[in-house]
Amino acid sequence: MPSDMKLVTVHTLAQMKVRGDRIVALTAYDALFGALVDGAGVDIVLVGDSVNTVLCGQPSTLNATLDQMIYHGRAARAGVRRAMLVIDMPFMSYQVSVEDAKRNAGRVMQETGAQGIKLEGGAAIAPTVRALVDIGIPVMGHLGFTPQSVHAMGGARVQGRGAGQAERVIQDARTLAEAGVFALVLELVPTPLAALVTEAIAPPTIGIGSGPHCNGQVLVLPDMLGLNESFNPRFLKRYGQLGEAARQAIATFSQEVRDGEYPDADHSFAE
Ligand code: KIV
Repeated sequence: MPSDMKLVTVHTLAQMKVRGDRIVALTAYDALFGALVDGAGVDIVLVGDSVNTVLCGQPSTLNATLDQMIYHGRAARAGVRRAMLVIDMPFMSYQVSVEDAKRNAGRVMQETGAQGIKLEGGAAIAPTVRALVDIGIPVMGHLGFTPQSVHAMGGARVQGRGAGQAERVIQDARTLAEAGVFALVLELVPTPLAALVTEAIAPPTIGIGSGPHCNGQVLVLPDMLGLNESFNPRFLKRYGQLGEAARQAIATFSQEVRDGEYPDADHSFAE
């Protein structure tokens, strides 16, 4: 790593909010894409438990495991140098007890070399957040639609509509901020509510499907690159068509192999 490379830390992110600089976050699950995303200068690389649905073809994030997150976290670590690397704690790795959460988050930090972890949930997990922060583990919160509660929420639906629900999201955000989160993901929250939360707390908010007033934005990399073509929520903007590019490349390779065009002399060893 170049000695003058300025690493992104919890302080960098806090200062960015104060200065009004927007934070860029993307997911990556391995060294190849981790290096690509990091090299493009994003601020946070998230090894999301979305790996379980997007790459592993599972119907939800609920059966992602701690070992799986550590495996992908370690792989992403090998590619990410400058950005802050944050790893999702999977379902049931932090909800049973604070002791469990400490042991499991500790494993993630030690075995991956990440700089932080992410937990889903509001006031109910604030004591866990506080306990992890107290032992030196930076914690990112996640409110709004929380995919590990997909069944309780009745699907991937916008959260915080109506005054009562909105007030609860704001209260949860305040409680998590008091417990010490360094940043807060807001997923599928109406734009005005995301703006209120962003005003109400000191840590930066990172939106996904939550409008433009968050302090930063995160997307799932294969979704925004156009690799995960069956996923088309309203908030998703595709910045590439890599699925189509891959199909074309594979079709050309197949044709050339079948026609005996590949490998030609340029791609062979004469001796
Ligand atoms: O798992 C994930 O990729 C996430 C992001 C969508 C924020 O939690």
